[in-house]
Amino acid sequence: MTSRTGRSRDSGFYQMICAENLTKKFDDFLAVDGVNLQVFPGQVLVLLGPNGAGKTTTVRMLTSVLKPTRGRALVAGYDVEREAEQVRFNIGVLTEHHGLYARMNAQEYLEFFGKLYRLELKQIRRRAEELLHRFGLFEDRFRRLGEFSKGMRQKLALVRALLHDPPVLLLDEPTSAMDPESARAVRDAIASLRSGDRTIMLCTHNLSEAEELADQVAIIRRGRIILSDTLENIKQNVLGPAEFQATFSKSLDGWSADLPEGVVLTERGANWLRFRVQDPPGTNPELLRMLSARMEMVTFQELPRSLEKAYLEVMRRAVIEEGNLAQ
Ligand SMILES: Nc1ncnc2c1ncn2[C@@H]1O[C@H](COP(=O)(O)OP(=O)(O)O)[C@@H](O)[C@H]1O
Ligand SMILES: [Mg+2]
Repeated sequence: MTSRTGRSRDSGFYQMICAENLTKKFDDFLAVDGVNLQVFPGQVLVLLGPNGAGKTTTVRMLTSVLKPTRGRALVAGYDVEREAEQVRFNIGVLTEHHGLYARMNAQEYLEFFGKLYRLELKQIRRRAEELLHRFGLFEDRFRRLGEFSKGMRQKLALVRALLHDPPVLLLDEPTSAMDPESARAVRDAIASLRSGDRTIMLCTHNLSEAEELADQVAIIRRGRIILSDTLENIKQNVLGPAEFQATFSKSLDGWSADLPEGVVLTERGANWLRFRVQDPPGTNPELLRMLSARMEMVTFQELPRSLEKAYLEVMRRAVIEEGNLAQ
């Protein structure tokens, strides 16, 4: 359990986002089912899952827009149900469909929202100028939003979310349906926000985006978190020991060898071999000696372990488990 400030009794750290058994039912349909989340200051948590998994519903509960059916959540130390106003003042939100007012220009738009946050005009202008510069929109500040490209709109929505300098950001699919160039600009903008104590929760089904930005990853499927850990641990635990590829100058017809203990040949091509190695520092020297004794080796490298591979494996296991339960 956590106290009102989000300080966990056992860990002693402050959690900026803390959800306990967070659940949402729409009639009989469980859209979010007992979600637990903990995000500490300065961390980026990526909530990763397919369409319909419950990401937006979770964000809507965390932003006090939707009342949980069960469970509770604290954001920036405030209870999302009982202290909705404090929650709103402490978060910046980017939703899938932000209403931008086509007739306003960027400056007017930011002043309008700044006033809703009860900021003074002088303060809004100073902050808007700084953020518009930062996201490359300053030159466009007097253009109507109707003329903005999708990428520019999303960056402006991010500026708006940051206007009151909130400690927590909740970004729901910030780059969905964007062209690669705009998506890159928005990702770079998000990456630039990571420094400092700001806590970010980002929902996406985009695996390379998750891999690029996440410290922590929570994989959600059908309303349930099926795996939650650091990005590195997920790759390590799901994909198992590291894999290496040795490539040779010539074809390897008929090659075979007694491999060192803890090394398994996993795949082979005409002039390359792949090995799974339990203890690379312990066995790679011997493996390398063995491989280069008889053949000319051109490269030996560790294969990248992608979040994509791990994610697909986690989903595959979840489907099998579900099948077993159904029997
Ligand atoms: N207001 C609602 N009424 C009924 N069902 C809803 C409502 N909002 C979302 N859902 C359903 O809840 C599930 C999770 O939706 P959502 O949280 O939007 O998923 P995601 O953001 O991961 O794509 C979906 O099956 C969706 O149809
Ligand atoms: Mg969604």
